[in-house]
Amino acid sequence: MPVQKTLERVISKAGLGSRTQARSWIHAGRVKVNGKVIENPDHWIDFDRDRVLFDDKPLQEKARVYILLHKPAGYITTFKDPAGRPTVYDLITNAGTFVSPVGRLDLDTSGLLLLTNDTQLAERLTNPDHKISKTYQVAAADPLSDAALDQLGRGVELNDGPTRPAVVRRIGESQIEISISEGRNRQVRRMIEAVGSNVVELVRTRIGTLTIGDLAVGKWRELRPAEVQALRGRN
Ligand code: URA
Repeated sequence: MPVQKTLERVISKAGLGSRTQARSWIHAGRVKVNGKVIENPDHWIDFDRDRVLFDDKPLQEKARVYILLHKPAGYITTFKDPAGRPTVYDLITNAGTFVSPVGRLDLDTSGLLLLTNDTQLAERLTNPDHKISKTYQVAAADPLSDAALDQLGRGVELNDGPTRPAVVRRIGESQIEISISEGRNRQVRRMIEAVGSNVVELVRTRIGTLTIGDLAVGKWRELRPAEVQALRGRN
């Protein structure tokens, strides 16, 4: 299946700037696709076929940057919030390039957030076809029965379809660790609601081979080359 994204996303994900900035550059005629200026930010790009130039230079000339942030609860993962809430970009200064979050975390979710300008790796980690597992620690509002854990493991019915089988481990009476290979909107929260409770705390601890380790809340670091290789599936 060809990988397609809008021109606005392609420019932003390549590390050049936010999506709002990307739109204004596209409108200003600074972006060419296959030799032709395209002023429509919603133009579809096929990564295998289309060649995108920004100011006549190919994308991805910038060094690739990979940032692991321990996101605190109360921060959103978009660049600017019209409501003025803090964003993860308030925590990442001097990254040297614009980086985009790989998948999103809700405002109230904390833990591992990877940000990069490497569109290929981001695609590998977020496309559900690749089945990259994401692990969360969950504190629920109520004790979770063994039957509820079995149900979460087998898959629950959500309003956008059944969830895939998940790996579930009990940590306490109302605490579990769950690994899922999809990244649907508010998925873990909705799964816990489907078994009759609510999430009171949600922390992501792992994406594929990458773990949050002992990185303090609110801090970030660059990935080591071996960590990047492992995420690419080549170690
Ligand atoms: N599942 C959720 O419900 N929220 C997140 O932030 C991540 C996964």
